[in-house]
Amino acid sequence: MPRVPVLVPPVLAPGVLAGRDQPRLEVDELVLRPWSGDDAPAVAAAYEDPDIRRWHVWSMDVAEATTWTTSWADRWRRDEAASWAVVDADDRLLGRMGFQKLDLDDAEAHVAYWVVPAARGRGVASRALSAVTELAFEELGLHRLQLEHATANAGSCGVARRAGYTVEGTLRSQMMHADGWHDSHVHGRVADASAHEEGP
Ligand SMILES: CC(C)(COP(=O)(O)OP(=O)(O)OC[C@H]1O[C@@H](n2cnc3c(N)ncnc32)[C@H](O)[C@@H]1OP(=O)(O)O)[C@@H](O)C(=O)NCCC(=O)NCCS
Repeated sequence: MPRVPVLVPPVLAPGVLAGRDQPRLEVDELVLRPWSGDDAPAVAAAYEDPDIRRWHVWSMDVAEATTWTTSWADRWRRDEAASWAVVDADDRLLGRMGFQKLDLDDAEAHVAYWVVPAARGRGVASRALSAVTELAFEELGLHRLQLEHATANAGSCGVARRAGYTVEGTLRSQMMHADGWHDSHVHGRVADASAHEEGP
């Protein structure tokens, strides 16, 4: 492929993540901190949950969870992705929150999260998502965050809406799950609050 002139410069320069340490975030009683290999048993236990398996379409044993938990520091240093362990005051794992597919050219990334069954229904996912969104827009300079979930996953839709992610549309037959193809909602938030219009 020949090199051609780029008419619009990248919105973000390399180093948006790599140029700083991954911060620890606090919201109410929740702490969002970088992952440690010591979290592997709790992550493997989380992936025993049928809902996490269903919507994230994989399982994880402790060895795999060790690789997973220790991979995030490198991904942060490569400006690829950010992931936090959401824990309580006693450092017990409540969930996972973060964004991946970081695109520096368009200052965009895709959000991903889960919460362990025992911690659901008290705003853990939505408050953690709001905290990460604020960091992404106000500290890191991202312009847009997007998330997709199967339309059958009402819980994820509730999290997105509670955190101000507008429904922008439905992608037909977009995700393959164990029980077949699912439609998915696209939700988005943009840094400019005036662009937050309600979608379909
Ligand atoms: C979806 C999930 C992250 C929700 O976590 P949570 O911490 O319980 O969510 P919150 O308490 O922040 O709920 C936010 C909103 O969603 C609603 N909600 C949460 N779970 C719901 C459910 N199962 N059905 C309907 N609404 C639900 C809440 O009532 C709340 O609504 P409100 O703003 O009107 O009060 C959690 O159930 C989970 O991990 N599920 C399995 C994995 C998964 O689906 N991950 C996302 C893949 S896209």
